[in-house]
Amino acid sequence: MSENQKNILDYETVALSDDDTGVIIIDQTKLPGKTEIIKLETAKEIWDAIYLLQVRGAPAIGVAAASGIYVLAKALLKEIPEDDYQAFYAKFTEYKEYLDSARPTAVNLSWALSRMDAVCRAAHEEGRTVAEIVEILGKEARQIKEEDIRVCRAIGEYGLSLVKPGDGILTHCNAGQLATCKYGTATAPIYLGQERGYNFKVFADETRPLLQGARLTSYELHSAGVDVTLICDNMSAMVMKNGWVNAVFVGCDRVAANGDTANKIGTSVVATVAKRYGVPFYVCAPTSTIDFNTPTGDEIRIEQRPAGEVTEMWYKERMAPEGVKVFNPAFDVTDHELITAIVTEHGIARAPFTESLRALQNTK
Ligand code: MRU
Repeated sequence: MSENQKNILDYETVALSDDDTGVIIIDQTKLPGKTEIIKLETAKEIWDAIYLLQVRGAPAIGVAAASGIYVLAKALLKEIPEDDYQAFYAKFTEYKEYLDSARPTAVNLSWALSRMDAVCRAAHEEGRTVAEIVEILGKEARQIKEEDIRVCRAIGEYGLSLVKPGDGILTHCNAGQLATCKYGTATAPIYLGQERGYNFKVFADETRPLLQGARLTSYELHSAGVDVTLICDNMSAMVMKNGWVNAVFVGCDRVAANGDTANKIGTSVVATVAKRYGVPFYVCAPTSTIDFNTPTGDEIRIEQRPAGEVTEMWYKERMAPEGVKVFNPAFDVTDHELITAIVTEHGIARAPFTESLRALQNTK
């Protein structure tokens, strides 16, 4: 079977190579036209893949970074003597800080790297050799990936309890399998509903400027046989006003302690419109995406991206005058007042989020 005949859902979003010398990803910048699988071996290749969105979506970049730092740590065994933990840890820290700088908004990136760092330090304190530490890092990277799959499925079950068969669901960006290791977050209720014959009618916002909704969400849902209709971002008000949407499900990159949520640019527009038309707006969030160190959305750092993504990327020719000013934030913050509920793997949080999110965190 050629790569383009396989269903996109048959591929792993992020995997370790058989010999643990590289991180294997689908180059998502080429989808849906071409399914290209690439192997990332160096720190620069991993950083670039995250920055360029070859691997993207908050949970997937966390898994890619954890797998990546393990691969880099393993390669260090060839150049650093087994008993020189100080040299090993200095290089490990350098890689960690470098990978962490690839994208600022999704907390999963620093969360996964901090978790790898904590495991590394704990193993050293237990008196493990550098080779043993590397083995433990490999186990942790695999664990982070397996957890992601379990977490997404649990989010799917809770999310499914909020809708009924035949419902219309709108989603923005791609919080799908391609953004995680399986099921997605916002798409998890849709996939579980599909397994159970719910016949949802899904509207996927195309998601300017990088078209994650068109290129990725509509692609993966269509490949799964879900009834999905692609709409431009400026059509969501119309489909909601028409009464075609019973619930909005979106993913998130960081949830502040008060429930304010950063997600793909345009999410807050959808939330505002949903409020206007009385459509419940649900944010699907693994608890790893909740950042209690960030009190409100105002403190979330929003990634700014190159102007060319707006003016020319995806077009045959440039679609804006040379020299025009461009504002291209990759994410926006949806105020907690616009959010009906935050769906996590431990349950559903409702306002007041400051209390409900803490309570869910403590049920772990
Ligand atoms: O810039 P991207 O494509 O990484 O943005 C992705 C999103 O905004 C997703 O909605 C979010 O990361 C959640 S993915 C489960």
